[in-house]
Amino acid sequence: MAPEVHTVAVIGAGKIGELMLSGLLRSGWPVERLLATARRPARAEELTARYGVRVVDNLTAVDEAEVLAVSVKPQDAAALLDEIGPKVPADKLVISLCAGLPTAFFNRRLPEGTPVVRVMTNTPALVDEAMSAISPGAHATGAHLALAEEMFKPLGATLRVPESQQDAVTALSGSGPAYFYLLVEAMIDAGILLGLPRQVAHDLIVQTAIGSAVMLRDSGEHPVKLREAVTSPAGTTINAIRELENHGVRAAMLAALEAARDRARELAAQAD
Ligand SMILES: NC(=O)c1ccc[n+]([C@@H]2O[C@H](COP(=O)([O-])OP(=O)(O)OC[C@H]3O[C@@H](n4cnc5c(N)ncnc54)[C@H](OP(=O)(O)O)[C@@H]3O)[C@@H](O)[C@H]2O)c1
Repeated sequence: MAPEVHTVAVIGAGKIGELMLSGLLRSGWPVERLLATARRPARAEELTARYGVRVVDNLTAVDEAEVLAVSVKPQDAAALLDEIGPKVPADKLVISLCAGLPTAFFNRRLPEGTPVVRVMTNTPALVDEAMSAISPGAHATGAHLALAEEMFKPLGATLRVPESQQDAVTALSGSGPAYFYLLVEAMIDAGILLGLPRQVAHDLIVQTAIGSAVMLRDSGEHPVKLREAVTSPAGTTINAIRELENHGVRAAMLAALEAARDRARELAAQAD
């Protein structure tokens, strides 16, 4: 694929930027078609040592790359765009990985007509099991979306969503891995409460999480059906479920995701 492979610059290669770099490399993207930028020299050295990728300054990245993947924190985006915005030719594709920031935020700081695609991915990209939701900004065409998909497909699943849904996506799948980790952590504690050694509790729950996730993905069944299959009349599971309902776990989930969605909106307002 080498001749038509675009040069991609990951601008602000922190945790998410690094996930993208490593995923693209695993998918066979040639290292000479990748660039990265970083603020601290130590970070730049780390990225070069780990991936052999060329780390350059932001303006060199703008100059040399066809695709700019911006992965700075939302609160750093305005300063970055002040620096590079005027130098970005209007035909370059800008991919934003920043939580909360609308594509309009980028378009206000980039030359008229610059295509921007917003992507919300998540940390399971590290094991090629990311969920990446992709939305076009005002000037992004089908070809731009297809290119963004080509870059994120090797990292896991992709889904096109209208940009208006991206704050909800951020709350659900962007932050989602943290909720599952919290649940697993709590279940390991519960195992310890019941007298199991920590490692045994850990192994039981991690494999149960993997098995349940694979069934959710592959069985085609609704989660309610899958749960019902484990919930026999007057059995153990229904007793546990009554306690989960008594403690408002379902309501807590609704409130938690609403809070995450609201925080995404706040971050966007503060970044402006
Ligand atoms: N973490 C997640 O699970 C997750 C999930 C989905 C989306 N996101 C989004 O991904 C973005 C990055 O998050 P993160 O967790 O990867 O943060 P991070 O680890 O702090 O990465 C951001 C990187 O950008 C660098 N940077 C900041 N300003 C720069 C500039 N002007 N020029 C060059 N580099 C610059 C920072 O350098 P220094 O290290 O030197 O400060 C840092 O390495 C955020 O917008 C976040 O909303 C994160």
